[in-house]
Amino acid sequence: MKTVKLGIIGGGLMGREIASALGRWFALEDYPVHLELVAVCDLQEALLDWFHKVPTVRQRTQEYAELLANPDVDIVYVAVPHDLHERIYLDVLRAGKDLFAEKPFGIDLRAAEAIRDEAETLGRFVRCSSEFPFLPGPQRVVEAVRSGGLGTLLEIRAGFLHSSDLDPRKPINWKRQVTHCGEIGVMGDLGIHVVHLPFRLGWRPESVHAQLVNLVTERPDGRGGMAPCDTWDNAILHTTVSVGDLPVPMTLEMKRMAPGETNTWYVEVAGMEGAVRYSTKEPKTLWSFRRDGEQWWRKTDLGFQTPFKTITGGIFEPGFPDVIQQMLAAFVAEREGFLGDRFGCVTPEEAVASHALFAAALESHRNQSVVPLG
Ligand SMILES: NC(=O)c1ccc[n+]([C@@H]2O[C@H](COP(=O)([O-])OP(=O)(O)OC[C@H]3O[C@@H](n4cnc5c(N)ncnc54)[C@H](O)[C@@H]3O)[C@@H](O)[C@H]2O)c1
Repeated sequence: MKTVKLGIIGGGLMGREIASALGRWFALEDYPVHLELVAVCDLQEALLDWFHKVPTVRQRTQEYAELLANPDVDIVYVAVPHDLHERIYLDVLRAGKDLFAEKPFGIDLRAAEAIRDEAETLGRFVRCSSEFPFLPGPQRVVEAVRSGGLGTLLEIRAGFLHSSDLDPRKPINWKRQVTHCGEIGVMGDLGIHVVHLPFRLGWRPESVHAQLVNLVTERPDGRGGMAPCDTWDNAILHTTVSVGDLPVPMTLEMKRMAPGETNTWYVEVAGMEGAVRYSTKEPKTLWSFRRDGEQWWRKTDLGFQTPFKTITGGIFEPGFPDVIQQMLAAFVAEREGFLGDRFGCVTPEEAVASHALFAAALESHRNQSVVPLG
């Protein structure tokens, strides 16, 4: 079996989640490539110590240049604050490594374009993280849309909702500050997750009217004082896409303040003949609508029908760590040329298109206007 070696820059929340998915790579069945974690870089000693738990890691460093100089590393996964994306992603590419990037793929549109262009110039394989479409429910939504069985489309809705920011006493972190997170705020945090599936189905917004909300403007700084919290908390984008020759409304929601929602990712597609709905709120449930004399919603319990087969029994429920592994399996499969007709990770072109949408949303909110997209 071929082995491909991974290095991680940024061993925080997501860096360790990726390490955990690699730790049970053997759960994948009939998968011809082994992905091994060999090197880690983080500024924090305590996090580097944590990686002692991973026996395959042979390099731990606080200098990412040292990891990039390691000839053993084929692919680098980078999970650092957004203001560092452009510099580190470009350095990864220039070191001759392939890149599994974290969203939002640069702090703004200009940075995203620079990363995409450099990857193209150097011929490196680059994809960006977005895991939810790899759950069985979203896969069935894609199938239903592609089957044409929904008829003429009426409406598309997709969103990603969090709620922990409802508590104004929650201390500030880098994701709530424009300097580190970007002017696009919550759109940079949650937006690629929301647009990945619609974009892949060919639904690209031709115009956007955005409503952006920043209700909590300062938060405890953790040292007894208060710090500015200047990012957008919630974003609702009313867009129009063309399906066939018809304009279809597509509403995209990204919220850090949605009462009761903890990491709720959803997609709903409604047509004249049928409709489908999926939400991580009911992780194994697919709702499908039929008009058949009477109108009815059917609830289907889905099992572990993931794009890449694993040892897990078909009736069991998939969760966040499972889809992180499925996403990585799709990344490696596409890099190695055996993805086939399975769903792929976000491409650099899709990431740039998401930034173009978020930049237009900022303009729309600023001018209170509908902004056309090219
Ligand atoms: N795919 C997802 O579901 C998902 C979820 C959360 C975050 N993210 C994305 O992942 C990225 C990281 O987010 P996180 O939640 O893991 O953040 P985090 O703050 O938990 O981790 C970031 C890590 O980067 C390290 N770091 C900072 N500067 C560095 C440098 N110069 N060299 C090496 N390490 C450095 C920090 O010490 C920290 O440990 C962001 O782009 C974020 O948007 C993705």
